[in-house]
Amino acid sequence: MKYPNRLNLANLPTPLTPLERFTIPNFDVKIWVKHDELTGMEVSGNKIRKLEFTIAHALDEGCDVLITCGGVQSNHCRATAILGARLGIKVHLILRGEKPEHPDGNLLMDYLVGAEISFLPQREWGKHVELAHELQQQYHQQGSKAHFIPIGATDEIGLWGYIAASEELKNDFETNGISPDYIVPATGSGGTQGGLVVGSKLFDLPGQVVAFNVCDDAEYFDNKIREDVAFWKQSYNMELNEDDLDICTIEGYVGPGYGTADKEVFKTIAELARIEGLFLDPVYTGKAFHGMVNEIQKGAEGRLPRASNVVFVHTGGLFGVFPQQQNFKFD
Ligand SMILES: Cc1ncc(COP(=O)(O)O)c(C=O)c1O
Repeated sequence: MKYPNRLNLANLPTPLTPLERFTIPNFDVKIWVKHDELTGMEVSGNKIRKLEFTIAHALDEGCDVLITCGGVQSNHCRATAILGARLGIKVHLILRGEKPEHPDGNLLMDYLVGAEISFLPQREWGKHVELAHELQQQYHQQGSKAHFIPIGATDEIGLWGYIAASEELKNDFETNGISPDYIVPATGSGGTQGGLVVGSKLFDLPGQVVAFNVCDDAEYFDNKIREDVAFWKQSYNMELNEDDLDICTIEGYVGPGYGTADKEVFKTIAELARIEGLFLDPVYTGKAFHGMVNEIQKGAEGRLPRASNVVFVHTGGLFGVFPQQQNFKFD
């Protein structure tokens, strides 16, 4: 595979290991974890895989500022802000919501690395791209060149991150002698899911990519991924029949809404931490893992009926646990 220009930022390959003690009673299922929470320490998680390509592209274009956007606790914004500090590039974040009195979790880290932050209230969020373009103009007037990275770095460039991860997974499966039935990520802006869907076609991976959405719905992810793939084909002159793409999003686990979770999700997070020493977060990985286990438990009636070897893609998000500490109950 000929990849576009890429920075070497993530600790790769990440390990693939089976859970040793967490079991689903009455089901003989082996859950493997692709540890993308270990792509780095502060810049951990899935976003760094995409940003390796996105920031390389921005630098090739002569940019010296990165503008990006997301929620106040965005992992993607935190990863971009820290990478900016490491690479000596200014980062300007547009965050959805009000400025909290005391920054916590990802936001605290954004401030610590000196990112410039503009808060845009929820009711005005529809204008965030417009604001990003205005900021680009302002930087231009100051003699800088700013690259705008869309939410989650999910576009035709960011797609490469999980296409490359799919090649890594192919090696993992060969090394471990496994042929998984399902590859399970959380999906939020669609780039991880999209990259895995495309990558599993390109590298002929065993197992269906089945994503659990934490916002929006299956139709949204279907459209978004097809749109990104169409741009990707055009931009990089790639051949791929879009009709062959198997985009499977399992709905039903968003809970009360993006960023907030039911108590079952918090229970699952605490259980996995206790049994395996593995940390999930309430916004992404906790919901996806909880959904995966719930669907397996439904057996033939569930949406993962063939599960015997399942690969859960741990996409990080640890720092999102701390601002939600009040939701964990300890006896
Ligand atoms: C920890 C974590 N997991 C999963 C996702 C979802 O990835 P994507 O935005 O590529 O759908 C994100 C970001 O949105 C994330 O921060």
